[in-house]
Amino acid sequence: MLLPIPNILSPDELSHMREALDAAEWVDGRETAGAQSREMKHNLQLPESSPIAREMGERILDALARNNLFVSAALPLRIFPPLFNKYEGGGSFDIHVDNSIRGVPGTPIRLRTDLSATLFLSDPDSYDGGELQIETPFGTQEVKLPAGDMVLYPSSSLHRVTPVTKGARVASFFWIQSMIRSPEDRAMLFDLDQTIQVLAQENGLNDAKVLNLSAVYHNLVRRLAET
Ligand code: NI
Repeated sequence: MLLPIPNILSPDELSHMREALDAAEWVDGRETAGAQSREMKHNLQLPESSPIAREMGERILDALARNNLFVSAALPLRIFPPLFNKYEGGGSFDIHVDNSIRGVPGTPIRLRTDLSATLFLSDPDSYDGGELQIETPFGTQEVKLPAGDMVLYPSSSLHRVTPVTKGARVASFFWIQSMIRSPEDRAMLFDLDQTIQVLAQENGLNDAKVLNLSAVYHNLVRRLAET
């Protein structure tokens, strides 16, 4: 599933975040790259230990917890503390696949990367290039979203960021381990939940059909979820 999620951040949250990030100290992104992606990666990144990265990451996690579309699509078990990158001056990230397992720095926690997320923080009109290109069974999909919007895509996919030839592309990126390991199961639960939401709006939460389908949904989650 490749899912754009609009308005993860409000305009106020976004402008505050951009102010803090524009004033932060950025380092070469290769410092945090694995052996394979080191050759592929040409960008800047906030150090994971930077207080600004941690504070802004917390705000993003709060925003995600409030976002029903994100929770419904990802059914998150663990979320990697959000990281931040910046592409400018021709910077790019050549085609690669994300590592399957990530340790959360400073903790014994490891997560399996089921979903990758990019939260766009720059106005798309303010830079040229910087498209996120994702290879899917239906061909290459190109993603460049408004600031404050996020895309979720399978961590199993090959993807790249095309060179930024003008301006700067600032984004947050992170990974999610879902309670539902199988992408097919997760996609069906998402479709079911979204349909229940529509029915509930039309008929009210106490409608018998809504109650029955909600029970089916929760019983499927009970059957399929790892917690
Ligand atoms: Ni990647």
